[in-house]
Amino acid sequence: MGKCKIGIIGFGTVGKGIYRILNSQNDSHPILNEIEIIGIAVKHINKKRDIKFENNLLINDPYELIEDPNVDVIVEVMGGTDVSKDIILKSLKARKSVVTANKAVIARYGSEIYATAAKYGVYVLTEAAVCGGIPIIEPLKRSLKSNQINKMVGIINGTTNFILTKMTNEKADYNATLKLAQKLGFAEFDPSADVEGHDAADKISILTELAFGGEIIRDSISTQGIEKINIKDIEYANKLGFEIKLLAFSERNHVDINDSLSLNIWVAPSLIPKSHPLAMVGGVNNAILIDASPLGEIMLYGPGAGSGPTASSVVSDILALHASLSKKIPSIDPLLSSNYWRDCHIADFNQISKKNYLRIICLDTPGVIGKIGDLFGKNDVSIESIVQLDASENKAEIVVITHEVTNGKFEKSKQEINALSEVELIASQLSCI
Ligand code: HSE
Repeated sequence: MGKCKIGIIGFGTVGKGIYRILNSQNDSHPILNEIEIIGIAVKHINKKRDIKFENNLLINDPYELIEDPNVDVIVEVMGGTDVSKDIILKSLKARKSVVTANKAVIARYGSEIYATAAKYGVYVLTEAAVCGGIPIIEPLKRSLKSNQINKMVGIINGTTNFILTKMTNEKADYNATLKLAQKLGFAEFDPSADVEGHDAADKISILTELAFGGEIIRDSISTQGIEKINIKDIEYANKLGFEIKLLAFSERNHVDINDSLSLNIWVAPSLIPKSHPLAMVGGVNNAILIDASPLGEIMLYGPGAGSGPTASSVVSDILALHASLSKKIPSIDPLLSSNYWRDCHIADFNQISKKNYLRIICLDTPGVIGKIGDLFGKNDVSIESIVQLDASENKAEIVVITHEVTNGKFEKSKQEINALSEVELIASQLSCI
């Protein structure tokens, strides 16, 4: 096999990790020696860096790499959406396969990007875009292909898992824990994409398309973040035998009359029983549980972010491309490319069923629990448990956990409960599995 010549665009945490893997003395497979970096496009060539380059690899203009006939594969690790989308599309049109770690671009423009790759007979590989170092894209494309995927549920954002784990273990306040995460480099200066759940929604969108085979409208995914989680919710959940985690959920619902597969997809902070395998996933780690037929349940677990883990996924994608491209097969390998094979849609929000947790602050008067229970009953919502967990100065905190119920019925009950004269506030609403 000849060398696989790559152009890297961006040299932040992941770019550096790729460089280190390709220049490491690890006892890994010799095929790694067949990867050659032709150039690295960066914004500031003269910036001080802790890596000494052997050749003059750094260049300013990413498009030079795309146009360079010596480059076989473009590695996009610059982040962002608009410029990176243009870079990915232009690379594919120049008949260069692309490896990217950019979940935001793939979640929003995957359909256009996959179609362009197919049109020009090249690949776009995205293992590093979801769950950092955990192999999840490749299993969905290949190892699990003989199965029907029924459900995926995961902790797929490391920043929020770090914050929730710390809040749980140390009874720490949300804002203080977020500041600590920023100080330790686990949260960005602008943490909104992580804490508001958008990063997890990007990732579950990509995984859903691969698992279920149809395009997903990313912005239609119901997304709730962890910004409003109060330490009280964590303490109450713990008392009742649950952990709170930010979950991303995707499940097949039914095939409708137009032959389109309806899917339940959401991202929300959720109570999970302490005995559930996802409850043990702490800190910045990620895990994803997949239920498939005939396989059954598997769980993939590991570091979901960071330089080494994410770079390891990028380099594995480069190796997969190298192996495939050097076969000189004129047609595209259908299990390596990303392609849709059916129509899918996200189920109407009101029709999605799940269990719910509600914390209600109300007057501590006789009959209030009965009234809340009656309103749920009237709307056909079955209650798994209802408890008064705190009472002081004539105020009570009531926590309700429902059985599985449609969002429509639950939201209607919530509005009616909120309108009760005894109810001061619905302090929080979380999902449960
Ligand atoms: N901020 C992301 C996370 C990084 O916390 O999981 C990897 O996508």
